[in-house]
Amino acid sequence: MIVKREHWGSRIGLILAVAGNAIGLGNFLRFPVQAADNGGGAFMIPYMIFLILLGIPLLWIEWALGRFGGARGHGTAVAVFDYLWKNPVAKYIGFLGVLIPLAVVVYYTYIESWTLLYSFFSLVGGLPSTPLTADVKDYLEPFKHFLIEKTGENSEGIILTPAVETYIFFLITLIINLYILYRGVSAGIEKVAKIAMPLIFIMAILLMIRVFTLTSPDGRNFLDGLGFLWNPDFSALTNPKVWLAAAGQVFFTLSVGFGAILTYASYIKPKDDIALNGLAGASVNEFAEVILGGSIAIVASVIFFGITATASIASEGAFNLGFMALPAIFANIPYGQFFSFIWFLLLFFAGVTSSIALSQPAIAFLEDEFGLSREKSVGILGVFLFVSSHIPIFIKGALGEIDFWVGTLGLVIFALFEAVIFFWIYDSKKAWEELTRDNDIKIPGVFYYIMKYIAPGFLVIILISWSIEFLPSTLSKTDPGAWIARIFLFVMIILGFVLIKKAWERKNGRAPS
Ligand code: PHE
Ligand code: NA
Repeated sequence: MIVKREHWGSRIGLILAVAGNAIGLGNFLRFPVQAADNGGGAFMIPYMIFLILLGIPLLWIEWALGRFGGARGHGTAVAVFDYLWKNPVAKYIGFLGVLIPLAVVVYYTYIESWTLLYSFFSLVGGLPSTPLTADVKDYLEPFKHFLIEKTGENSEGIILTPAVETYIFFLITLIINLYILYRGVSAGIEKVAKIAMPLIFIMAILLMIRVFTLTSPDGRNFLDGLGFLWNPDFSALTNPKVWLAAAGQVFFTLSVGFGAILTYASYIKPKDDIALNGLAGASVNEFAEVILGGSIAIVASVIFFGITATASIASEGAFNLGFMALPAIFANIPYGQFFSFIWFLLLFFAGVTSSIALSQPAIAFLEDEFGLSREKSVGILGVFLFVSSHIPIFIKGALGEIDFWVGTLGLVIFALFEAVIFFWIYDSKKAWEELTRDNDIKIPGVFYYIMKYIAPGFLVIILISWSIEFLPSTLSKTDPGAWIARIFLFVMIILGFVLIKKAWERKNGRAPS
């Protein structure tokens, strides 16, 4: 049975969906914290280098692989790698393009649900209020307490004890995601993007204006905040960690190396453009990241708390900035409740348009390789996500461990396979032809060399440095949370392999027509 392949309804819809895929929590939380933590303005140098030499070329490769697969009725790397490389292992390697986004969405949806919870509590006035005190730590304390109470991270043992409302908001978030996916590519994902993306921009600009008109009693304003983020500390450039962080942020923010772009691209028509669409999506994402993402959270925090305190908040991670520092600022400004509501709603919308993108590869896999209907595929995904989400929700340390293996290491490995299988195993001439055909803009010829040599070379160097830097400390973790996460990923891999084996047996057993 051949199921007719879905397509995007319009070009603007496609670009908004792709921008929705890329614009996520990474733009508004991860980027400012990474930049502040890794040399401020100097971070932008490796960031720009990797954007051009790694991010954009790999993005175009992923678009090309998606268009190639879509034209043959397939939307994941499982079948695409199988076409490109006549080796039985190819399809199993391609499973990374389903496993990575699926494992990420298991915890991404949970974090996304916190933003909905916070947004709701901002609206009804349920967030803590805090008197202005000189000591930043004291001032933030009620908000820290609130976050810990909601996520249950204060529990003694390995079982976390989140609040009931946290669980309820998680269920609501999961149902919203599944409903959008159930409606399908055009009537679900595309339609939501058309509504959510303009709202995201309006809310971000409103917040930016509010932050830019903020002053502290001792006279700090937005220029101090921008200065902190953009003043280059060039000594940071000699630190390899800064380069790794920049590469990691470029991957994460463009959604490259996850398999999610490949799947979205598989729903364009076989002769549609990829070069301009890919570049447009990336440009919108960079605007949302550098201009909007760089002007809200960190800048507000510097105005309110000063540089030293902000640096220490940023060094403690993205959650502290987004879920503690920002609501604490809004608690003491006029109409703060409203801005707090807008801030978390913005994060929620950015999160939803990303989590549906992370979910779609698994749906495409079930539809394309098993001929299942969309309704059935979404049903299976829903049961899987519901069951497996209990791991990051209730097991201490599992979220971070899953994130390390798939969200940090896995995507670099998968991106390397994409480039190598396309340009080295398949055929670099044919790969370039596939990449450059039917486009509305010309991909400059120099990208041939970047895609064939420079990008894979960088990926190998990143992989080796990452392994040296982070593998030993991760591997030495033996807490039950880490082990449960590893076993979970292992089970997913085995399950995936069994499904792929079955699917291919089914196809090969079918008489050629
Ligand atoms: N790019 C998203 C962000 O910046 C994260 C993401 C990665 C979304 C991969 C979908 C696929 O938050
Ligand atoms: Na992004």
